[in-house]
Amino acid sequence: MSFRIQPAAPARPNRCQLFGPGSRPAIFEKMAASAADVINLDLEDSVAPDDKAEARKNIIQAIGDVDWGNKTLSVRINGLDTPYWYRDVVDLLEQASDRLDQIMIPKVGCAGDIYAVDALVTAIERAKARAKPISFEVIIESAAGIAHVEEIAAASPRMEAMSLGAADFAASMGMQTTGIGGTQENYYMIREGVKHWSDPWHWAQAAIVAACRTHGVLPVDGPFGDFSDDDGFVAQARRSATLGMVGKWAIHPKQVALANEVFTPSEAAVAEAKEILAAMEKAKAEGAGATVYKGRLVDIASIKQAEVIVKQAELIAG
Ligand code: COA
Ligand code: MG
Repeated sequence: MSFRIQPAAPARPNRCQLFGPGSRPAIFEKMAASAADVINLDLEDSVAPDDKAEARKNIIQAIGDVDWGNKTLSVRINGLDTPYWYRDVVDLLEQASDRLDQIMIPKVGCAGDIYAVDALVTAIERAKARAKPISFEVIIESAAGIAHVEEIAAASPRMEAMSLGAADFAASMGMQTTGIGGTQENYYMIREGVKHWSDPWHWAQAAIVAACRTHGVLPVDGPFGDFSDDDGFVAQARRSATLGMVGKWAIHPKQVALANEVFTPSEAAVAEAKEILAAMEKAKAEGAGATVYKGRLVDIASIKQAEVIVKQAELIAG
């Protein structure tokens, strides 16, 4: 155990991030009315090259005009490998109202990518005397991104969240799949003639969670493309929640309720966590560091585990 205290991640709900193309302003009000904690207006891959300029204008206008309530409002800019990203940043930071909370940087490959955007954002914030500093979220969706995940998490004090982008990640890694997240037909083991499916996204998710938790950043699961498959979405989301992720993207409005359900600790889980805390209080009063709860060991580490659940529930309720 390091003597350094693990920094807390930003204390805001991030159960669901709802995406919508910046070139489709007709859905902005619907996005704002949704139950998503975070809104991601997209300038990147859901917007065709010829529509980029128009999408920027739509988004800048909607940031000021639409009532986004208390949602975290984020805009996904284009990747640093494109000719669009600097104009995204300049126009957003010069023209969008202070309601803009965050920008999402896709396809990051190293800490220098964040540094470059940070330098540009910082200069414009100063030049325009913007009152509210913009925070960053990034997508890990390349081999380089996962190889440098820890330096990326540590790259700027603006860093608040990091998502796994399954589709670009799979392509960059050369994975033989066209699925966006979820169970992959060919990723199985055989035991006694029976197939057991495994999870090809698991290690990347765990690497992201570790990097994020080390540096006080929120780890988030990205898109699940088959929005007709609710069971598949929920199974993927439950695995992510079990690994320590705090939320998941919705690429269709029907996925918002599913994500909120999975990433809100259930009443039963909260009740059990509170019972464990009470059992440990009692043990402490009796001078013991460990006790038995429902036939199983609980000790001082169990307090921290239970507190994760109770604090998450309080954050969401508050
Ligand atoms: N946010 C809010 N509302 C949305 C929405 C979104 N992302 N996508 C669709 N809707 C609305 C539709 O306008 C429609 O509303 P209505 O009932 O008032 O007519 C309703 O939800 C049902 O939409 P549906 O017809 O099922 O979907 P669609 O064909 O209009 O759009 C997608 C489907 C996938 C193209 C669209 O959801 C979308 O663009 N998603 C985001 C894609 C994206 O941003 N990708 C980048 C991140 S991976
Ligand atoms: Mg992508």
